Amino acid sequence: MTDKITPKQAASPNAGTRLVNWLDQRTGVHSLLHEALDEPIPGGAGWAYVFGSGLLFLFVSQVITGICLALYYVPSADHAHTIVSYIVKEVTAGSFIRSIHAYGSSGIIILLALHIGQTILYGSYKGRRELLWLSGCILLALMLGMAFTGYLLPWDEKAYFASAVGTNLIAEVPFIGSLLQKLVRGGDQMGTLTISRFYVLHVFILPALLIAFIAAHVFFFRKAGAAGPIKEDPVHPKLPPVPFYPRQVVIDAVFAIVLISVLAIVAIKIPMDLGPRTNPADTAFLPRPEWYYRPAFQWLKYLSGSWSLIGGIILPAVLALIFAAVPFLDRRLERRPWRRPIVVGAFLLFLIAYTSLGVASYRDDYRDPGVSAQMRKQDEDTKNFMQKPFVPETAAGSASAALVAADPKVLKGLAIFQANSCNSCHGDGGVGTAAAGPLTGIGQKYTDPQLIALLHSPNIQMTAGGMTPLDLKQDDMEELSAYLRQLH
Ligand code: HEC
Repeated sequence: MTDKITPKQAASPNAGTRLVNWLDQRTGVHSLLHEALDEPIPGGAGWAYVFGSGLLFLFVSQVITGICLALYYVPSADHAHTIVSYIVKEVTAGSFIRSIHAYGSSGIIILLALHIGQTILYGSYKGRRELLWLSGCILLALMLGMAFTGYLLPWDEKAYFASAVGTNLIAEVPFIGSLLQKLVRGGDQMGTLTISRFYVLHVFILPALLIAFIAAHVFFFRKAGAAGPIKEDPVHPKLPPVPFYPRQVVIDAVFAIVLISVLAIVAIKIPMDLGPRTNPADTAFLPRPEWYYRPAFQWLKYLSGSWSLIGGIILPAVLALIFAAVPFLDRRLERRPWRRPIVVGAFLLFLIAYTSLGVASYRDDYRDPGVSAQMRKQDEDTKNFMQKPFVPETAAGSASAALVAADPKVLKGLAIFQANSCNSCHGDGGVGTAAAGPLTGIGQKYTDPQLIALLHSPNIQMTAGGMTPLDLKQDDMEELSAYLRQLH
């Protein structure tokens, strides 16, 4: 396209064409489109090539749904759970968007496994594609990081305890382990600083890196070209090239529609649930990670003592290094899988081991009656929580807001409430946890003397739940009662 206006162009009455020409002269969009759409595929388009574009599509879907969730989310231990339950129970389509986002992460892991499996089976990392492979390895690590950091954000029981297990592992790193763990958690314990660190990683740092490495990955892919079918020479393809557009574009679009439809159906049929707000003191809770981290979780169960360093840190690091080095180690141009028994065999072995560990984890849970009972209880708690209507945070609901209440009796009562660890079961501000119900509205249920009598000699439900009789001075009992009775 030249800048000279030919008489024909000048005479053209079509405003659309004129606008396209105007843009093209200033941006070169035409040649960019040509670059993007006329990419030659040796041997032509096919369904085998959909996984990469499917991943890109799901990533865009995660960005869009993630932005919607971020419009509401508050990264703070005091408010995160309330706001997620608000998204799930009150916001229009909130549960749907959250489910698409949560199931989308599983979808990405599945597509990643297929994409990597295909690259290994087809030997399409060969022939000057080392940087393409390495950028892919980094993308894999970043995606696993996204899955890990996102899991904590709802701050329900399973999120809290699974992330506690994950961050405990960091302490196993030699020499700097405990320092590193503190850095990740923002302190010794998990709390608001942990949430805000995970949040910053999840919405700023990791997505920025992801976008940069996706760009690099696509660039290296375009530079090396599609590898084509398994019999094709990866450096100098012999099959006639067929342009990417239109057949591959249509195939990729159909695959994207299938992906979003499956996600939407799952999101509607089985909305992603939210458990009760976490209670760090609940020692009975059995944490379980998402299904794709289950094999790693099971693997860690087998390790103890010095083995957790070797099995939990060193072995995975060595495996990751070997994985990243595959195109440097396997340099022959042979691509047919049956002629490459070592790489393909090692991959299949890993796949079998990983799947067996995952199956073993679910089987162990199922077989142990104590564990399966506790898991059922946890599911039950989650179901009950999901059925309850949304309870907004009230001024009295948070301990710090209660401090604003001018009544000194109430203030002292709050101190007694905390000193006697009532909040370990009933939650801060008596909002309730999985271990014990809320104390809000208790003022309508009991008078002062009734409440004090009840605390002196708890009823059968309370003792069954682990609550012990409280024996304090009469003044203290009155202050505690004053605090409890103003909770609403
Ligand atoms: C080990 C856990 C635990 C601790 C600690 C605990 N409670 Fe409870 N509490 C329970 C359970 C379980 C119940 C019974 C039913 C429910 O609300 O879930 C209960 C019930 C109550 C009730 C009656 C609620 C009602 O609606 O009838 C009050 C009042 C109460 N607790 C106050 C306290 C106070 C004050 C403290 C601190 C001194 C405290 N609890 C510490 C577990 C605990």
